[in-house]
Amino acid sequence: LNYQVPRTRKEIFETLVKGLQRLEYRGYDSAGVAVDGPKKTGNDHNQNTICLIKKTGKVKALDEELCKKDFLDLDEKLFTHFGIAHTRWATHGEPSEVNSHPHRSDKENEFVVIHNGIITNYKELKAYLINKGYEFESETDTEVIPKLIKYIYDNRENEDIGFSTLVERVIQQLEGAFALVFKSRHFPREAVCTRRGSPLLIGVRSEYELSTEDIPIQYNNALFKEGVQEKNSHNRADCSSDIDSVGNGRAVEYYFASDASAIIEHTNKVLYLEDDDMAVVSEGKLSIHRLKRKVNENPVRAIQTLQMELQQIMKGNFDAFMQKEIFEQPESVFNTMRGRICFDTNTVILGGLKDHLKEIKRCRRLIVIGCGTSFHAAVATRQILEELTELSVMVELASDFLDRNTPVFRDDVCFFISQSGETADTLMALRYCKGQGALTVGVTNTVGSSICRETDCGVHINAGPEIGVASTKAYTSQFVALVMFGLMMSEDRLSLQQRRLDIINGLKMLPDLIKQVLALDKKIKAIADELYQQKSLLVMGRGYQYATCLEGALKIKEITYMHSEGILAGELKHGPLALIDKDMPVIMIIMKDSCYTKCQNALEQVTARSGRPIILCCKDDTDICKNAYHTLELPQTVDCLQGILTVIPLQLLSFHLAVLRGYDVDFPRNLAKSVTVE
Ligand code: G6P
Repeated sequence: LNYQVPRTRKEIFETLVKGLQRLEYRGYDSAGVAVDGPKKTGNDHNQNTICLIKKTGKVKALDEELCKKDFLDLDEKLFTHFGIAHTRWATHGEPSEVNSHPHRSDKENEFVVIHNGIITNYKELKAYLINKGYEFESETDTEVIPKLIKYIYDNRENEDIGFSTLVERVIQQLEGAFALVFKSRHFPREAVCTRRGSPLLIGVRSEYELSTEDIPIQYNNALFKEGVQEKNSHNRADCSSDIDSVGNGRAVEYYFASDASAIIEHTNKVLYLEDDDMAVVSEGKLSIHRLKRKVNENPVRAIQTLQMELQQIMKGNFDAFMQKEIFEQPESVFNTMRGRICFDTNTVILGGLKDHLKEIKRCRRLIVIGCGTSFHAAVATRQILEELTELSVMVELASDFLDRNTPVFRDDVCFFISQSGETADTLMALRYCKGQGALTVGVTNTVGSSICRETDCGVHINAGPEIGVASTKAYTSQFVALVMFGLMMSEDRLSLQQRRLDIINGLKMLPDLIKQVLALDKKIKAIADELYQQKSLLVMGRGYQYATCLEGALKIKEITYMHSEGILAGELKHGPLALIDKDMPVIMIIMKDSCYTKCQNALEQVTARSGRPIILCCKDDTDICKNAYHTLELPQTVDCLQGILTVIPLQLLSFHLAVLRGYDVDFPRNLAKSVTVE
């Protein structure tokens, strides 16, 4: 929003569409925008109109649709340029135009809303509103929100209610998770957004240095006190110490977004809203409100400067973000270690954990929780964490952990692994563990994310933005971060010093070894050429390599839509062997570690059934190569880090298979990058 500089409608569309494109990586099935339409003339006092344009499919289709809209003057200059845009990933109701956002209160578009999250009590609200005569057009949970705000507006009687107060009253009725942005014909110069459980940030762009880095919260305690009438929201904005005042009325623009990638090309100054914060931009000024101040609550929201560069989220010379991210791994794992390992003294310091280290060392067990790839990072490092911490380590899928109401105690330490820091199941598990009194630790790639903010302490993996839906570099960085945690925990264990030294040396060499693995890309592509028409692909291994099997199979499933299974080689005789014949493609991971002999046995069982294994093994392992249909020889490192080198060929294989099968690698069907619903 900017009141000083007029913008054409075309420019507003471009900003919105660009923002949506930057978020495409999250996965979606439809998109839509709402902007100011032409003014109404005649009896209607030049009242504003709002125009909604929605489309199923890609943002590109929406963009084309916007250009076609000849009833809208694209060159018209607007002073109030507040538009909203959204990509939807269906949770309630099929992907369709009517189900996509923005949703509206009525045919006149008096109130329009975009929403991320799920409203769990929407059925009750919908029944109530239908009973009051409101007509619904979609099957979504979201639609109750614009209908509800209109209901409150229609029934305001003589009360002078401001836009933000209406929104406040709406969210009091909502259960579930949401990040919401509202636009209204009745309040054309105002924008309101709020959140609970879903991420929401505000980008601030100013031509002037912002003299204050903190936005104070306005508490509206008086709002619902009996007999006290709230003044309209303009008054509230005036009394707040807003940041525009430093610019003396000169240009400041605000961007509301669920993810910084959507706005990074406009500004790197952002503030993160907390649950139940209400942000209002009115007459070009930002203010943040909350109903009541909680004990120990931070009374300001700080403006932070993001380090993310636009080029970091662009594809560069690669065909797909996923491919770029696979090839970035020498740098991303290095960045995870940067400044944290002292190779001279063999010490590891994770700044975000050091104040809690004593407490962690005293704990009874570690519980490591995540979903998808992040869960696999926990599986991959369980054994080394057990060895280095001498604690019992449980690894848990967040959803299952919650389903079981798993017993958690005050002397447990719970780790939450999440690339995005927003995965709903992981976040719920975090809140559950906090409720049980356990110490909570976040391991995330997204600064300022919900998991970062809600955990007691944590580690940023610093892998840089990951855009491909199928996670790659975040996995290897999570892996490294968890190993570093184990090293930090074992610093004073004399008996483990040699082991620690070997691992630290292994970490030092890791970026170079990853480069050697990436150099096998052509060979991996050739294997993909042979396999891409297959229906199924098994990935087998054990010990430290079991996580690679699970993660490799997940990559293959996610982006190639082939059936794939990660099989623990120790379980081969208990079922999977029945699948083996000369036609079933099998990948076996056989590295020189304590499971080597057992893996050789598994290989024999496979070849005895005419299986034709593709084997990932250590360089120059001639014994293994003899029995292989194809081999990929990999550099050897210390056993507990070997999984980083074995997973990369499977990331590359899944990438090539998906391209050969003609699929969009970065946007696999039915999947989202950040699953912010349970
Ligand atoms: C989704 C993504 C996966 C990711 C998982 C956990 O399923 O498609 O790539 O591994 O969520 O996400 P998180 O952000 O918590 O690591």
